[in-house]
Amino acid sequence: MDGARALLAGLSGAGDTKPCRRLYPHQWSWDAAFIAIGRARVDQPGAEGELRALFRGQWANGMVPHIVFDPDCAETYFPGPDFWETWRSPNAPVRPLTSGIAQPPIHATAVRHVFECASDRAAALSFVAEMVPRLAAWHGYLRNERRRRGELTEIWHPWESGMDNSPLWDSALARLRPRDLPGYRRADVGVADPEERPTDDEYDRYVHLVDGMRRVSYRGDRIRAATPFAIHDVLWNTLLTQANRDLAFLCRLVGADGDRFEQWADAIAAEMDDHMWDEEAGLYGNVDVVEGRRAAVPVSSAFAPLFAGVPEPDRARQLVETMLGQAVEWAGGLVVPSYGLGRPGFSPRRYWRGPVWLNVNWLIYRGLQRYGFSDLAAQVRQGILGLVRRSGFREHYDPLTGKGGGADDFAWSAALTIELVRDGGRRRASIRPDP
Ligand code: GLC
Repeated sequence: MDGARALLAGLSGAGDTKPCRRLYPHQWSWDAAFIAIGRARVDQPGAEGELRALFRGQWANGMVPHIVFDPDCAETYFPGPDFWETWRSPNAPVRPLTSGIAQPPIHATAVRHVFECASDRAAALSFVAEMVPRLAAWHGYLRNERRRRGELTEIWHPWESGMDNSPLWDSALARLRPRDLPGYRRADVGVADPEERPTDDEYDRYVHLVDGMRRVSYRGDRIRAATPFAIHDVLWNTLLTQANRDLAFLCRLVGADGDRFEQWADAIAAEMDDHMWDEEAGLYGNVDVVEGRRAAVPVSSAFAPLFAGVPEPDRARQLVETMLGQAVEWAGGLVVPSYGLGRPGFSPRRYWRGPVWLNVNWLIYRGLQRYGFSDLAAQVRQGILGLVRRSGFREHYDPLTGKGGGADDFAWSAALTIELVRDGGRRRASIRPDP
C-alpha cells in the first residue's frame, strides 16, 4: 500500500498523473479513471483533481480525448501534438493540446466511485455537480457521433479500445492499405523492449488511421462515411452501459433528470445480448461494422459484460464457464490473460496478445462479485495481488511465469492494488449492482 501511494505521488503532476514516467509521459483518459478509482480510497482531493485535469482537455463537441498532453514532454512521445494537428478541428481546445480520438467511457463510473468513497459528502456533492454537465456532454457526443443504426457505439482506432494490439483488430487492420504514409519515428521502442510492443507493420496501420481522421479535421460525419475501421467493441459498450447507469445516479444526486441515460444503458445491454453474444463460443464478440460480421475471439475483455450486469444469470454462468477455461492459476488464485494461451498469435510478452493486465482483471473481479460468484471473485483478487507481490506494479504480466513486462512503475496497477486492498474482497457499495 505504501509503495503504491508513493508510486502515484511520484507520477502526479499538476493534478494529473502520468501512466508511468518514460513510456507514457502525458495524461491518458481511461488511465485517469482507474487512477481516480484507486486514489479515492486514500486521497479524495487527488482523485477529484485527476478527473478535473482530464476534462480540461474535453472538446467542444463533448469528446474526452485519449491523451491530454503535457507541453514539457511533447518531444518525447509519438504521436505528439504536432502529429495529431488537432488545431484542424474547431472542436479541439487550444490549450491543453490533446489527441484526436477517445478511450473507453468509464469516467461516470469513476466519478460515482469517488463520490461514494468520500467522507465529506457535501464537498463531494459539489464535485459531482461540477462533473455532471461534462459527463452528459461526453455521453451526448458518444450518442450523436458514434452510432449509426441502433444503440451500440463504435470505435475508429485500436488505440480507442485501450487494448492497442489485441488480436481483436487483426482482420480489420489487414484490409487497410497504408500508402503515402507521413514520415514518423516511433518513440516507444526506444524506451521499452520492442518484443513487448506492437510491430512496425501495426504501427503503420495505426498512423494511417490517424492520418485519415486528421485529413477530414476529425469530423464525425466524414469519418463515419469513409473509415475502413469501425468496430462495435464489447469492452467499450460494456463500460458505456455501466457509465450510463452511473451517470443517471449522479444526475439524480444533483436533482437533474437521469432517465435518458438509464434508458440508453438498458438499450445498449439488450443489443449487446442480441448482436454480440456468441452461443457456440460462450462469450461476447466484437462486431465489425464495415463488414457487418461478428467474431468470437478469446480475449479477456469478452468477459467484461459481467461488470455492467449485461447477461441474464444463465448466460452469465455460461460466460463464467468459458472464462474458467481461459484463466490461469496464480498464487493460489486465478488471473485471465489478455488472449487465450496457445491461440494463434498468442505471445506471453507482447502487450495485449497474451499478458495479464490488471485493469481488465479488476473489471472481471467486480463482475464476478456482482453476480454473486464470491469465491471466484476472491480467487481473481488473490491472483492479481499475487502478481503484484511477485513482480511489482508493472504494466502487464507474463501469464506463464508472472514476470512483469512493459513499464515498471505503472500507475493504474498501483491504484487498483490500493482499491483491491482497501475493498478487502467484500462487496462494497461502490460500483455496485443497480436495482
Ligand atoms: C497503452 C495501453 C492503453 C493505455 C496507455 C497508457 O496504450 O494499451 O490502454 O491507456 O498505454 O497507459
